[in-house]
Amino acid sequence: MKTHTLLMPLDMHLHLRDGVMLENIAPLTAYSFSGAIIMPNLVPPVTTKEDVIAYRERVMAAVPNDYFEPYMTLFYQNYDRAFLNDVAEEITAIKLYPAGITTNSEGGVSSFDIEEMRPTLEAMSELDIPLCVHGETDGFVMDREAEFMSIYELLAKNFPKLKIIMEHITTKEAVAMLDKYENLYATITVHHLLLTLDDVIGGMMMPHHFCKPIAKRPEDLDALLSVALEAHPKVMFGSDSAPHPREKKEACGCAAGVFTAPIALQLLCEIFEQFDKLDNLQDFVSDNAQRIYGICPEFKEVTLERRPFVVPEIYGNVVPLYAGETLNWAIESVE
Ligand code: DOR
Ligand code: ZN
Repeated sequence: MKTHTLLMPLDMHLHLRDGVMLENIAPLTAYSFSGAIIMPNLVPPVTTKEDVIAYRERVMAAVPNDYFEPYMTLFYQNYDRAFLNDVAEEITAIKLYPAGITTNSEGGVSSFDIEEMRPTLEAMSELDIPLCVHGETDGFVMDREAEFMSIYELLAKNFPKLKIIMEHITTKEAVAMLDKYENLYATITVHHLLLTLDDVIGGMMMPHHFCKPIAKRPEDLDALLSVALEAHPKVMFGSDSAPHPREKKEACGCAAGVFTAPIALQLLCEIFEQFDKLDNLQDFVSDNAQRIYGICPEFKEVTLERRPFVVPEIYGNVVPLYAGETLNWAIESVE
């Protein structure tokens, strides 16, 4: 039986939510990942040191063992230097959302006035706190990410020492930015390595394929695959696994988010094997992130086996991507 072992897999973009949802889904990621960057878009968002500490404790209480590191984030606001100094040791990054662009982002940034943001971003540069960005404008849905490139350029040029992570990129335009600015990095989800807009609305409308940013064109998929499969040194895996209760997805007014946490590594093996690039998966799913963020995750050895795995129809009340379908890889053991 063919197997593939991954050391210390990391999910560099994860939504764990809170309350019962957190308790139900956090163990799924803690099982097969050494750590994850935990998104702060709770209601209300995570904006104080006390919020970060308390949320981290709730995450740790929800996972069955200590072999999982939640890398905590703050929700971007124009914070002052004294606050950032004080909170720096509790966080791994700060996540910036344009206001109203996605789930629970109403308190985000409403105008990208560089001078208004300068004190915060300069302090972050000096304290070496990366800025994770949801890069979409409020333009036409297929153009939102490409339109955001000028904002990435503005940020990258004005704050050359700031590590800027273009989160969950979906376009060839974002891929092209990686080699243009030294301080721009990116995460890529597994669903954006599989889906195009056709898979969302080309046939029947598929609510469990709907997320923000929406899956784009075949040429965008090809560009994402090219950097992921080569494990471009500035690219990391970040699932953007975003659970919503079934009734919020299978509804008129479907919530955005694809739930992939429990099947992400299996799908990644399938994709990388298909292109004969399994040897690069370790870099994509852990080593690049360790280097970019300067983190040393908990030891974990995850062995996957090439055998059929039927994706469960539902986890608690959350429907995963490819529910009921058969994947080619299964998790065999975790040590
Ligand atoms: O599809 C998405 N869902 N995109 C995001 O940016 C947020 C996420 C969520 O929190 O549900
Ligand atoms: Zn997200």
